[in-house]
Amino acid sequence: MILFKKTADLDKWLDAQRKKANIIGFVPTMGALHPGHLSLIAAAKKCNDLVVSSIFVNPTQFNNPRDFEKYPITIEKDIEMLEQAGCDILFLPSVHEIYPDGFSTTKNYDLGFVETILDGKFRPGHFQGVCMVVHHLLDIVSPDNLYLGQKDYQQCIIIKKLIRIIGKSTINIQICPTLRETDGLAMSSRNMRLNAKERETAVTIYHSLLFIKNNISKGDVTAIKNKAKEILDNAGFKTDYVEIADATDLTLVNEWDGQQKIVVLVAAFLNEIRLIDNMVLN
Ligand code: PAF
Repeated sequence: MILFKKTADLDKWLDAQRKKANIIGFVPTMGALHPGHLSLIAAAKKCNDLVVSSIFVNPTQFNNPRDFEKYPITIEKDIEMLEQAGCDILFLPSVHEIYPDGFSTTKNYDLGFVETILDGKFRPGHFQGVCMVVHHLLDIVSPDNLYLGQKDYQQCIIIKKLIRIIGKSTINIQICPTLRETDGLAMSSRNMRLNAKERETAVTIYHSLLFIKNNISKGDVTAIKNKAKEILDNAGFKTDYVEIADATDLTLVNEWDGQQKIVVLVAAFLNEIRLIDNMVLN
């Protein structure tokens, strides 16, 4: 695996690869890698000549400074994992490399209503920050295929929108399924911050999704959402939201006709740690 820290060096190297008509797959990450990330690398390896990954803990997408400070950093282990997974290139930029002019001169992306709901509502500015860094990374890497995890469902929809806004619709977005621990907890870098007791409780998020999947029927979905929230509250979570939305565009669904493809999305705090998960129901 070749490691690049400078945009200009990576740019030059990738240019040469593009001239050889190599197909490039890209897996952006914030590090603290787990098998979920490696499944993205594996998916990218199947369909591309070269797999590029990046590790950058992006300050502009953290609306809570404490969450940024506490974000797990495991660079050495990450490098080892990427190497073993057969990743070809790792881009490991500094903050200055990504934001040479600081954070104040950054753009504003017109993401529409999808930025104002769910995580957008509870983490103001988060998706603008995601778009800033992803825009920058896509400019550098210019991948043919971009690999994202379904666990960040809203982020996937936002990035699909971003690539249209920035005129990069030739990039194929490949959304890979969420990997789960044996008890069902969605794999996440934030799980590293859970203590043993919190880890035991954390699986309740998965149970709340299963509860909705197994009990939803057509009509008003308010009661079932409230019941799922009660399950989380009783386990000790502080719930930001339990929502049901159209699986394609994330329009919130209050009345379900039994046909529309829907996704349940949950975000909840266990003490200081915010966990998210989702499940497509039909
Ligand atoms: O999902 C993530 O890890 C991050 O939001 C991403 C896409 C790498 C942008 O920082």
